[in-house]
Amino acid sequence: TTDTAESTGADAAPAYPTVRAGCPLALPPLVGEMREERPVARVTLWDGSRPWVITRYADARQALRDPRLSADLHRPGFPFISPVQKLQQNQDLPVGFLRMDPPEHSRQRRMLTQEFIVKRMERMRSEVDAMVDRLLDDMIAAGSPADLVGGFALPLPSLVICKLLGVPYQDHEFFQEQSRLMLDQTAGLESVLAAREELRGYFDRLAVHKRRRPADDLLSRLVAEQETPGHLSHDEVVGMAAVLLVAGHETTANMIGIGVLNLLERPDQWAALCEDPALVPGAVEELLRYQTVIHTGLPRVATEDIEMGGVTIRAGEGILIQLAAANRDPRFYDDPDRLDVRRPVRQHLAFGFGVHQCLGLPLARLELQSALAGIVRRLPRLRVTKPLEQLDFRHRMNVYGVFELPVVW
Ligand code: HEM
Repeated sequence: TTDTAESTGADAAPAYPTVRAGCPLALPPLVGEMREERPVARVTLWDGSRPWVITRYADARQALRDPRLSADLHRPGFPFISPVQKLQQNQDLPVGFLRMDPPEHSRQRRMLTQEFIVKRMERMRSEVDAMVDRLLDDMIAAGSPADLVGGFALPLPSLVICKLLGVPYQDHEFFQEQSRLMLDQTAGLESVLAAREELRGYFDRLAVHKRRRPADDLLSRLVAEQETPGHLSHDEVVGMAAVLLVAGHETTANMIGIGVLNLLERPDQWAALCEDPALVPGAVEELLRYQTVIHTGLPRVATEDIEMGGVTIRAGEGILIQLAAANRDPRFYDDPDRLDVRRPVRQHLAFGFGVHQCLGLPLARLELQSALAGIVRRLPRLRVTKPLEQLDFRHRMNVYGVFELPVVW
């Protein structure tokens, strides 16, 4: 058999994901080892399932554009990293096109591509800059110390998505509170699900409202152009709004928090940005590569037998495409474990690749650039008040980061 995991016994399918026992900013040692020794190998998840993990850059990229890999979570064998994720399948919550395959995936995604084109996003830049400034004003007014995650990184993407979807200003507080609860996976399954249900109900009512009183926003356009002519059901529109919120919130927020932390841990890199803000866009790409927050792997399931990395992945077996390991593959990047804001970053996989590549990519870039530029400009003396060992890292969460980042300036 070519299945090395089967032939060498259970030890070859270690428990996954693992925590970063050593440096919390390094790659988990297990995935680094796998990439060097067993680039396509089985792991064991919480529910006993044993999907394959793909850890090398070239394999990851190839897998992400392979139509024999399905992103449909209803297919048997689809891997679930956590119980919360499995609930999505059981409870039939709207997961939207992120977990669908073509042609339905392509049909729904196309309805949104115009909304996220670079040109349109560029028009939002001044608004995002203003949101960044307002949040920093408030934080500075309240005085140091502060929590950069709660006070800045989490509210920013929430404000941006409110603007995009057309959430009325008077609802911001409710909306932010529910999204905060939904993302607070330490609060337990029930509160996460309750918050999710609140938000679903909210989008449901908002979409009805937009039908009666359309405005110049994404949700109004979805209702008018897709729901009214019958291309999407009301529930699908609600599902899409929820996907946009979920996909764009946690990822961006954690990238801001842990991105700033990484820079502050390397004072020369921080100083370089403070001296030359023109380095910010490159620094954002390097941070996305170096500290890839979608750190447990993109889930897929094989629909046919596939040969990769010397093994045969059988139809119906689960796969996790380990972007974080791929983005630090020495076969593709020189000295990959060094953070270097001046590095010309080539084609990192932090936004995925292929048909599901992050739809919000231009918006995410804009938010990260604006956030980092704002912080560097206004808080050049920023520093973290606790050593790394005392910070609370999101080891077991789907999106990596820090729960809190206590700072002074
Ligand atoms: C998909 C990363 C921000 C909307 C994805 C995927 C990745 C990713 C890796 C691919 C998932 C897969 O193939 O299974 C990120 C990161 C972000 C970010 C690292 C921030 C740093 C955003 C934002 C939005 C967004 C701001 C929109 C408001 C989406 C959507 C998809 C997606 C709708 C699904 C695309 C599809 O299935 O066709 N993102 N994302 N993301 N992202 Fe993002």
